[in-house]
Amino acid sequence: MNYSKLYNFAVESYAKLPYHFGGGRAFRPLSLFVELTYRCNFRCNMCQFLNILDDPRLNEKKGEELATDEINRVVDQISGLGLIVFTGGEPLLRKDIMELVRHAARRHKVYMVTNGILLKEDVADEFVRLGGGTLFSHGMASVGISLEALGPRHDEIVQVPGSFEKIMGNVRHFVAAKKRAGKTFPLVWLKCVITSHNVAMLDDMYALAEEAGVDMFNPITYYGIPATDRLAMTGEIAPDASPVPADNFDTAELRRQLEKMRQREKTSKVQLRITPPGLTDGDVLAVYERRLDMGNKACYTPWSSAALSAYGDVFPCSNYTVGNIRQTPFMELWNNGKMTGFRRELKKRKIFKSCAACCSMVYEGQPSSYPLID
Ligand SMILES: C[S@@+](CC[C@H](N)C(=O)[O-])C[C@H]1O[C@@H](n2cnc3c(N)ncnc32)[C@H](O)[C@@H]1O
Ligand code: SF4
Ligand code: SF4
Repeated sequence: MNYSKLYNFAVESYAKLPYHFGGGRAFRPLSLFVELTYRCNFRCNMCQFLNILDDPRLNEKKGEELATDEINRVVDQISGLGLIVFTGGEPLLRKDIMELVRHAARRHKVYMVTNGILLKEDVADEFVRLGGGTLFSHGMASVGISLEALGPRHDEIVQVPGSFEKIMGNVRHFVAAKKRAGKTFPLVWLKCVITSHNVAMLDDMYALAEEAGVDMFNPITYYGIPATDRLAMTGEIAPDASPVPADNFDTAELRRQLEKMRQREKTSKVQLRITPPGLTDGDVLAVYERRLDMGNKACYTPWSSAALSAYGDVFPCSNYTVGNIRQTPFMELWNNGKMTGFRRELKKRKIFKSCAACCSMVYEGQPSSYPLID
């Protein structure tokens, strides 16, 4: 079964009614992205947060990160059986991470994205114990582990020697623990951002995902707008900023790798999910060739999903804040003037130029451009 397509379909349907008839308002959010911290033990060269990881303000603001109960209170306001995504920075650096996961998993599905280096045996065992029974039950639903390349190339990208071997050790333990417990959930994903550093090894990474026995291989399209404003949210929409992919990118190689992965997928037990999941492979290639046609794209995500910064700012996406939960209750922010104004502007434009490569883009109607494989 294609879990992510089913989930995306359900979420999009929930968002579309208020999108068309709500005048900018939306139902209670179905999912919440929580950026738990902007601290990180890696320095990945493609990271959207790279600019702020070494910003001196980050240390000054350490004491301002949301406390456990502040996060839990927002989580409690998400629709039952919603999806809570814990990300960062590196979420496993937070000392209260298990408390946060256990709390969220009591009523919701939980997805964590981690670089995997701290996903030690005790953490993995607890995640397996918290695994939900089905796609539609609460509990730990998925853990996405970022593995940016194979062997030493991975370590170069993340700038931590020896990390590839450690992460793969953690992945293997996780998969074995799940098997011993006879659990389907949490699904284990291996993720990577497609860059010039790993494009030639994408299919080999898919092969490694098969050999390790994970559930999903998830290459992600590079998004080039740095998240510099997380430390001082400006509240500005930057709809025309250009998320240009990295230079020196071998697009012919990407085409070859996409074709190889689609071949492998035909007989593989490991699901292939290329992000943005709503786009054809041809359009993924078009992002890197800087010729993506935005004319047939739309986005419904801000009608079903909210994001929370490590310091309490609420934002629909990107760097546009609509307020802070330390000043205003979360559900008031969710449909306040700034949020409804943002939604109305997005609906009017259908999509912003700055959305190119964002994982929430979908086609408006039928995909029309550049199918790579018919
Ligand atoms: C910012 S990281 C935070 C979680 C954790 N530190 C990790 O690396 O998995 C969340 C996800 O964003 C991805 N990511 C980082 N920089 C990106 C970029 N420039 N474009 C697209 N995805 C990116 C990471 O690979 C990861 O899957
Ligand atoms: S591990 Fe995640 S947050 Fe840290 S530098 Fe890498 S992509 Fe960024
Ligand atoms: S596609 Fe654009 S509007 Fe939608 S979530 Fe992404 S950045 Fe925001």
